[in-house]
Amino acid sequence: MRYQFTMKPKYILIAIVLLVIIVSVFYNFNLSSQLEEIRSKIESNSNVASRASVVSEKQPESTYDFNENLIVIYNRVPKTGSTSFVNLAYDLCKRNQFHVLHINITGNMHVLSLPNQINFVRNITSWRQMKPAIYHGHMAFLDFSKFSMPSKPLYINLIRKPLDRLVSYYYFLRYGDNYRPNLVRRKAGDKMTFDECVEQQQADCDPKLMWLQIPFFCGHAAQCWEAGSEWALAQAKRNLVQEYFLVGLTEQMEDFISLLEASLPRIFRGSLDHYSTSNRSHLRQTTSKITPSQATVDRIQESDVWKMENELYDFAAQQFHFLQKKMTVPGKNVLQSYMYEKIRPK
Ligand SMILES: *[C@@H]1O[C@H](CO)[C@@H](O)[C@H](O)[C@H]1NC(C)=O
Ligand SMILES: *[C@@H]1O[C@H](CO)[C@@H](O)[C@H](O)[C@H]1NC(C)=O
Ligand SMILES: *[C@@H]1O[C@H](CO)[C@@H](O)[C@H](O)[C@H]1NC(C)=O
Repeated sequence: MRYQFTMKPKYILIAIVLLVIIVSVFYNFNLSSQLEEIRSKIESNSNVASRASVVSEKQPESTYDFNENLIVIYNRVPKTGSTSFVNLAYDLCKRNQFHVLHINITGNMHVLSLPNQINFVRNITSWRQMKPAIYHGHMAFLDFSKFSMPSKPLYINLIRKPLDRLVSYYYFLRYGDNYRPNLVRRKAGDKMTFDECVEQQQADCDPKLMWLQIPFFCGHAAQCWEAGSEWALAQAKRNLVQEYFLVGLTEQMEDFISLLEASLPRIFRGSLDHYSTSNRSHLRQTTSKITPSQATVDRIQESDVWKMENELYDFAAQQFHFLQKKMTVPGKNVLQSYMYEKIRPK
C-alpha cells in the first residue's frame, strides 16, 4: 500500500513536467517561425518598392528604398547596458551590411552647440555612403524637425532603474569594469561604499546625479537640464512616445533586441541569436559592485529626483510591455498580421 501511495504522485509529476516542456518548445517554435514570416514580409515589401521603380518611373514615392536609407540613432545613456548593445551592432555590421558610427563630442558633453546641431543633422541626412547606419553616442535627444530636413532618423534607446544606474556608475568610477580592466578610473583607490557615501551625504551619491535619463529623453532645451523640472519630465515622456521608434529596458535586453529584429530586420537580422550566444554581449560588468542597504534605498527614494526619474522609467516600461503584448492576438499564441482588401476601383 505504502509503495503505491509514494510512487503514483511521483509519476504524475514527471508526466506533467514532460508535458510542460513539450508544450513550451512547441510554443516557442511556433512563434519564432511566425516572426520569421513577418520579417521576410517587411523585406519583400522594400524589394517590391525597388522593383516597382524600374517598372514605372512616374511614381517617385516607390523609388525610395526605406531600408537602404535607414538611419538609427541610439543616444545611449551612460551605465544602462549600452556597451553590450553597441557591441552587438559592431558584430553584425559586416554581415548585415550597415554602418556603425560613434558620435564623439568634445569633453563628453551631452548637448551639441547650435552650429554643430545643424551640421550634424545635415551631415548624417546627406551622407549616402554611410547608409544604412546606426549612430550612437552619449548625446541628448535632438529633434530633427527643427532643421527642415526631408527625412528624420529613427531614435532608439534603453532605460534603466534610476538607482541601479547610479550605483553602477558609482562603483564604475572606483573599480572600472571587466571591459577595460586596466584603465584607471577617475575615483580609483576610493574604497567608500555607496551606503557610506549616502550616510555621509557626499557629492558622488547626491540624488541629483540621477537626473540623467530625463534630460537625455527631454533633449536640447535649457529646462531639460534643471534637476527636478516638471516640464522636463513631461517633455521626456512626450518624446519617448512621439519621437522614439522603440525604447527598451536594460533589465529586458533580449526582449528589446527581439522586437528590434522583428521590426527592423534590414539591420538587426540575426541579432537575438548572436546576442544569446556571443560571449561579448554580457561582458561589461562593473567590478566590486555592492548592493545598497534597505536604509540607503529608502533614503534615496525620498528624493524628488528619484521619484521623477522612476516615473519616467515606469512610463517607459508600460509602453514597452504594451508593444510586446500587442505583437500577438489576445489570448492566443498567434502573431498579429494585417492585409488590404476591398481595393477600389478595380
Ligand atoms: C573622443 O575623442 C577624443 C579626442 O580624439 C579622445 O581622446 C577620446 O578618447 C574619444 N572618446 C572616446 C569615448 O572614444
Ligand atoms: C559628414 O562628416 C564627415 C566627417 O566630418 C565627413 O567626412 C563627410 O564627408 C560628411 N558627409 C557629408 C555628406 O557631408
Ligand atoms: C569569445 O568567443 C570568441 C570566438 O567566438 C573566442 O575567440 C574568444 O576567445 C572568446 N572569449 C572568451 C573570453 O571566452
